[in-house]
Amino acid sequence: MHQRCLALGSTGSKQILLLLIWVEIVASHEDHSRFHWHDKGQRSGTPQSHSCIHDKILEQQRRIGVKQYKITPQVYEDEVEVIMEDPHSRRLLSVSSRADVELEKHQPIRIFLNYDAVGHSTDRDCHSLHDVVKLGEPAPSATPGFPACNSLSEPPIYGDCWYNCTEEDISGEDKKKRLHEALGETAAWFRRALSVEQIKGPLRLSGYSACGQDGGVQLPRQYVEEGVEDADLVLLVTTRPTTGNTLAWAVACERDQWGRAIAGHVNVAPRHLTAEAESLLSATLIHEVMHVLGFDPHAFAHFRDEQKRRRSEVVQQEHDQKLGRMVTRVVLPRVIMHSRQHYGAYDDKFPGLELEDGGGRGTAGSHWEKRLLMNEIMTGSVDTRSVVSAMTLALLEDSGWYKANYSMAEQLDWGQNQGTEFLMSRCDAWNGAYHCNSTHSSGCTYNREAEGYCPIEQYNNDLPAWARYFPEPNKGGQSSLADYCAYYVAYSDGSCIDTNSARSPDRMLGETRGHESRCMASSLVRTGFVRGSTMQGHGCYEHRCSNQTLEVAVDGVWQTCPIGGGPIQFNGFNGHLVCPPYNELCGSTVPYIPGACPHACNLNGECINGECHCFLGFSGEYCNQRVCPSGCSGHGTCTANGVCDCELGYTGTDCSTAGCDEQCSLHGGVCDNGVCEFRCSDYAGYTCQNSSALIPSLALCGDVLAGEAKGQHCAPSESSILQQLEAAVVVPNYNRLIPSGRPLFSIFDNGYCSAAAKRLACWISIQRCDMDGDNRLRVCQSACQSYNKACGARLDCSDRTLFSGEEGYGLGTCTGDGITEAWLQLHLRTLLLAGLLIAITGFFLATIRYICQTLQTSGSGVMGDSMHDLHGPYVVITEGEFEGGLSGTGRRKPLGTFCSLPMEPLLSLFMHKTSRLPSRRLLSDILLMHTQQLHPHRATRGVESMSEEGN
Ligand SMILES: *[C@@H]1O[C@H](CO)[C@@H](O)[C@H](O)[C@H]1NC(C)=O
Ligand SMILES: *[C@@H]1O[C@H](CO)[C@@H](O)[C@H](O)[C@H]1NC(C)=O
Ligand SMILES: *[C@@H]1O[C@H](CO)[C@@H](O)[C@H](O)[C@H]1NC(C)=O
Ligand SMILES: *[C@@H]1O[C@H](CO)[C@@H](O)[C@H](O)[C@H]1NC(C)=O
Ligand SMILES: *[C@@H]1O[C@H](CO)[C@@H](O)[C@H](O)[C@H]1NC(C)=O
Repeated sequence: MHQRCLALGSTGSKQILLLLIWVEIVASHEDHSRFHWHDKGQRSGTPQSHSCIHDKILEQQRRIGVKQYKITPQVYEDEVEVIMEDPHSRRLLSVSSRADVELEKHQPIRIFLNYDAVGHSTDRDCHSLHDVVKLGEPAPSATPGFPACNSLSEPPIYGDCWYNCTEEDISGEDKKKRLHEALGETAAWFRRALSVEQIKGPLRLSGYSACGQDGGVQLPRQYVEEGVEDADLVLLVTTRPTTGNTLAWAVACERDQWGRAIAGHVNVAPRHLTAEAESLLSATLIHEVMHVLGFDPHAFAHFRDEQKRRRSEVVQQEHDQKLGRMVTRVVLPRVIMHSRQHYGAYDDKFPGLELEDGGGRGTAGSHWEKRLLMNEIMTGSVDTRSVVSAMTLALLEDSGWYKANYSMAEQLDWGQNQGTEFLMSRCDAWNGAYHCNSTHSSGCTYNREAEGYCPIEQYNNDLPAWARYFPEPNKGGQSSLADYCAYYVAYSDGSCIDTNSARSPDRMLGETRGHESRCMASSLVRTGFVRGSTMQGHGCYEHRCSNQTLEVAVDGVWQTCPIGGGPIQFNGFNGHLVCPPYNELCGSTVPYIPGACPHACNLNGECINGECHCFLGFSGEYCNQRVCPSGCSGHGTCTANGVCDCELGYTGTDCSTAGCDEQCSLHGGVCDNGVCEFRCSDYAGYTCQNSSALIPSLALCGDVLAGEAKGQHCAPSESSILQQLEAAVVVPNYNRLIPSGRPLFSIFDNGYCSAAAKRLACWISIQRCDMDGDNRLRVCQSACQSYNKACGARLDCSDRTLFSGEEGYGLGTCTGDGITEAWLQLHLRTLLLAGLLIAITGFFLATIRYICQTLQTSGSGVMGDSMHDLHGPYVVITEGEFEGGLSGTGRRKPLGTFCSLPMEPLLSLFMHKTSRLPSRRLLSDILLMHTQQLHPHRATRGVESMSEEGN
């Protein structure tokens, strides 16, 4: 018996060594992925605008290629039990309790900002001057620091490169202070602008995903275990350098059961945390946080309608004959309603609101089309004049996650009341105010607030066919985002309104500049003089609206304009002034627009040709009454004010939609009418990828995946995030699965058990994808059972949100099937090794015992006689067994001393009074959820000892 004890002891020390080696392998892992993206237009100094790279980030995430989303619902056993009192619970999100009334359910959004990661990345944050840090994922190369980021090279290198830090890239205390202020203001802005159905209790994250982009950011462990108090969204902030005109970027990384983002990663470049960039930065941060909240094609796939069902249509793509190219248009109801209002477009041909096509024509982008929305904040470039329009707020409201406060919307002038034709025709067919065709003439900007010039560029290459508005194929407007359209851009001193920045008015032309002045076409010049420049066919003149007419002043003399606009003359001046139409400048009285509806349908319905089409839950000619749709579907009661009050477990305007229990989202799933779905793209940057592409970047799970049949696995596509996933998700799960106290104990089953735990930890975090390559396959029940067998654990394999049976479906319907063979091989290897070790140490011990017995008179203290206590496959050993052993090995001592040496030091290393094994209950710990939710009787969390439950 004692031989075996010795064997156990020596293999234990061997295992410490193996573990150390393994830890080193994990730590020394290198990056391998390569991909490229570029940014355009770098200028030195403070940029005038922010170029958003969100589309490029998405492109990066998408490059492995994922098909269009398709719903394949997974079976979910419906079991809804909610305990309100539990302080740790996250209640059914958005499923109202009886006490709630719909309007009160929505509370201002609470954005929690976490700055823990600021300056904490050794290879991505600039710590001192001339540090060389990673930007994106530079490919490994023989030359350190190559390729270097270089905006001056041809072509410029903006991403996947090594960045040489300057003084400005280091976030010192002043920059950190600015960062806190700027983001604090952003969070406060959103508090006013958006409200959500608040999460009850702390916001808990699943911890299934690695979070972020460009190296990402680690989710704090306590956000998974305890959650975040008073938060609806957690933003993890970093300050890593960016190139080009990009001030900041942001991505979402976790979603709740309705698909709303609950965690995101925001990066702000320290270079731009300056006083000069302050107002540009605040616009930029609003823009970037909008991407996290829902202005993102990943999020579009989760948008909900009034019933809280997944929307069948968010965007429409078609080849537009008139524009001559593919266009993507948002067709959400409130976006359409507010667009119709803005453009004055009430006919039934209204096509939806166009998105900028990111990552090449024909893919849904994450910005409004600049040609149509110009200085709207969600166009692809942001500047200090950017405004948040009602259309952007409407898009967020149409997600079904938020209620927008439309009083936060700002006035967008571009395109106002230009009609459906404006949206549907090429920009060279737009009316004169929105269009110019020669660099030789200056003119008035579209809103008449400034004099402008007509920028038309000669490009080195021909423009795409749809963007050719001039006979020369390489000629076009200056902005590719605005489809190379040519329009008047204000001179820096050309404002008619702002007297501080503008040049002084031209007395010869009778001009006046000031708040009431507008730019008007004119050939006026004092009699006896001639106009100095034939280019200048306009001037700034004061206007007023009175008695239903527009009046204009030249040199202090007021004259009334024709109602429809047209030329008028002034005494003492040659030439004439061309009056704008009354409606254009006297806009305070709403002009008559054909097809407009009275009261704009109270913004509760769409107006088509003068008729209101009310949204679900509203009725009346002008959609001014609330009604309970479908009698609340039998799952709620209709309150006096016409709002359905849904019973527990149901939601939606008509209470027709079932919720899922919180384990759905805590396992990374998204709920669709009671069905918990597991899609790979639910996390930003996760795609279904060929396993062979992942294995080189995986330290721990590489061989687990390698041992499987070829297929696709759902994982982050960026190799640094993949490594982070292992460190932040797989390893903690592995540690939880390993029964504490046992791993260093016995070789017979420990190699077995730790391998099983490792496999399971990997499978839980890196699941296989189905044949279609968009849904994650849950872990096979057999994998769970094998683990239970190997480790003597009692994980609940019947949990359907995580494990699935493969009965009747054959191979390939879950993650980790077909493992039996591999298990046997491992088992054999372990047994062989163990056998060998036992033989060697047995022989060694027998020799010692023989010597001891021969040389020693007394047998006392050689070996204890205590019994092994067998618990299943495990051995619990009492201290006495170790008496007499090996610590003296190799030392030259008198044999008598050696034979009776106490073994205390060695024992303290290997002995554990109780060996604790993971039980069924551990599942809650591993999966980082609260079992109490479903199993209220199991009050305690955490690891349970074998002796308590196992006997
Ligand atoms: C970084 O830039 C500085 C100044 O331009 C230069 O002296 C230094 O060699 C650069 N470092 C690397 C690694 O290229
Ligand atoms: C909506 O916006 C207005 C204007 O900024 C603000 O005064 C009001 O408090 C906001 N409403 C809510 C509920 O935050
Ligand atoms: C240029 O635009 C003006 C109106 O702005 C139009 O009258 C003229 O015909 C255009 N010229 C060309 C060459 O298209
Ligand atoms: C308003 O205009 C009408 C004609 O358009 C004129 O008869 C009337 O006197 C004007 N009233 C004032 C106060 O100027
Ligand atoms: C992934 O594997 C499939 C076949 O197994 C192959 O058709 C496809 O091209 C591979 N994709 C990549 C990105 O390697």
